[in-house]
Amino acid sequence: MDDKKKALIDGLNEDLANEYAAIITYNHYAATVSGLAGQVLKPFFQGEVNDEIGHAQFLAEKIVYLGGTPTVEPKPVKHTTDVREMLQNTLQAEIDTIKRYTQRVEQAEAAGEIGLKIELEDLIADETKHKIEIERMLRDPLFK
Ligand SMILES: [Fe+2]
Ligand SMILES: [Fe+2]
Repeated sequence: MDDKKKALIDGLNEDLANEYAAIITYNHYAATVSGLAGQVLKPFFQGEVNDEIGHAQFLAEKIVYLGGTPTVEPKPVKHTTDVREMLQNTLQAEIDTIKRYTQRVEQAEAAGEIGLKIELEDLIADETKHKIEIERMLRDPLFK
């Protein structure tokens, strides 16, 4: 296997570990969020779980296709009972995820995986939607 492909697989595995963490985070926050703000956040977090599961499925399949072994270790998840902190943690995670996928697009192109490059751009579009929704909620007086 050439170095460019190896770097791409390693990067996709880092993305997968972060997607698994995102699934746990959103599922955990959906289950534990309480109060009036919780009535708005719970369905939002539940919806995010499904998106992140889709991303993890996609990445695991691609890693196998490229000849790698998908990780089974999620990145650490931050517990909090504070709703504003939940939103800030998930916002930071989405921002970091967009950065990682932007780097992965370049690695996919360098490895000659143009189809994958385009699919990774679709993931960037998904994560950007998540980021925008969280930013909008953080500006709402309910979450001050
Ligand atoms: Fe994701
Ligand atoms: Fe996301």
